[in-house]
Amino acid sequence: MAKLAKLDDIVSLCKRRGFIFQSSEIYGGLASCYDYGPLGVELKKNVRDAWWKNVVRMRDDVVGLDCSILMHPLVWKSSGHADKFADLVTVCKKCNTRTRVDHLAEHADEHTEHVPIETSMADATNLENKECPACKSVGQFSEPMAFKLMFETEMGANADDTMTLFLRPETAQGIFANFRNVMDSTRVKIPFGIAQTGKSFRNEVTTKAFIFRTREFEQAELEFFCAPGTDEQWYEHWKEQRFKWYTDHGIKSENLRFRDHDPDELAHYAKACVDVEYKFPFGSGDWQELEGIANRTDFDLRQHQRGMRTINDWHENGCDLTKVTLKEEDPEYFKGPLSYFDEQEKKRYVPYVIEPSAGVDRSTLAFLVDAYDEEEVDGKMRNVLRFHPALAPIKAAVFPLVKKDGMPEIATKIATDLKGSFSCFYDQKGAIGRRYRRQDEAGTPYCITVDGDTVSDNVVTVRERDSMQQEKVNVDQIKSFLREKLDL
Ligand code: GAP
Repeated sequence: MAKLAKLDDIVSLCKRRGFIFQSSEIYGGLASCYDYGPLGVELKKNVRDAWWKNVVRMRDDVVGLDCSILMHPLVWKSSGHADKFADLVTVCKKCNTRTRVDHLAEHADEHTEHVPIETSMADATNLENKECPACKSVGQFSEPMAFKLMFETEMGANADDTMTLFLRPETAQGIFANFRNVMDSTRVKIPFGIAQTGKSFRNEVTTKAFIFRTREFEQAELEFFCAPGTDEQWYEHWKEQRFKWYTDHGIKSENLRFRDHDPDELAHYAKACVDVEYKFPFGSGDWQELEGIANRTDFDLRQHQRGMRTINDWHENGCDLTKVTLKEEDPEYFKGPLSYFDEQEKKRYVPYVIEPSAGVDRSTLAFLVDAYDEEEVDGKMRNVLRFHPALAPIKAAVFPLVKKDGMPEIATKIATDLKGSFSCFYDQKGAIGRRYRRQDEAGTPYCITVDGDTVSDNVVTVRERDSMQQEKVNVDQIKSFLREKLDL
């Protein structure tokens, strides 16, 4: 029976074993920014690759994309982020700390995602009775105000031709902006999807709980384009697919659930939205968003068609986004540049979009929490990460029992041979039991030990991480043995 991990256990293991470090730690750290160490970078890459394999490579109806982080500023005007991507905040007059107004509401949970400003307004009454979460002063809050969440930067080397740009707050808009390019350069036909993974940036007001919410993070997003009228069926399809992806990769189904958005949580353009929630070991209710799946209708493509019509205004206004208003929508929008001609139906329309949007870092945290276990073995505690083999940073470790009598040479040869196919670790230092424990803590599924007999019989001992069962395998069979067991 797996132990329920506490966040502190995870943070401590991550630092001790080189999964995740605080960013810029030698300078005292940079709040809410984290670096992935040698084991962490492999784990996160495996999470990203497992998503890509499932969402892109194994399907005939999804293609991939990798967009730049910096995009034309009008992208963010069209998407609504430039004007609306903000949290309603209030500032404590005593300690100057900013707090999200929705986090001050009764039964609020400081880990919840953004809510529309209009919804937060409902929580902005009675601030005079509220306590500052930082300094505990009561009734010291300022008038609520919108706090913009996009990071700004400048592009251009000359002072008079610099332009304000934004670090993208989601990868999704790069997909919409390339919808036409992908259509024109490939043979995709609706229904089809475009997927992308990559960094996003949000100047979050509250960042707590390790890598759960950070200001720089990685997303894995799919925009699945479909004909209006088929959207509800694709929404159900992707709900099922995404839930299954988590459980297929080791998340226990009792720790995963769907939560439909309430009507006041829904963005005005969304027809439906559901969160895949994971039972994280923090927060008042434990259940927190892992991934959002939304039916975004034809909103985004229609908005970008409006943005494309606004480009001249933008130039005429000195490329100043604050002076530009989006042009009205063309009444014949369904024939616009981001529309699709359905040859079978002989009909032109702007496609609807189903968007499963996951966080790579947040999923990595969920996989770490779910895999964490402590158990007593022979009177001693053993820490083990029971990762799914596809996610394990190291697939196999190879040890010579002792550092002599030809054992290191055989073990090195086995490790070198395996490295061509799996991430493999060679270790000859310390007692064998301690070497096993180190690999348990790293989540390595198999340890291979070369002993004195191997020199004569060419047989090694293979120990499985979870059961700790050992079996004898001929050196010539090791690769096929691991391939079968790891299913890679
Ligand atoms: N395109 C839709 C979109 O971006 P979202 O719910 O804001 O939707 C999707 O984000 C996912 O991205 C979240 O479910 C979460 O996994 C991840 N995410 C969002 N903000 C994050 C943050 N500040 N830190 C870490 N992950 C974040």
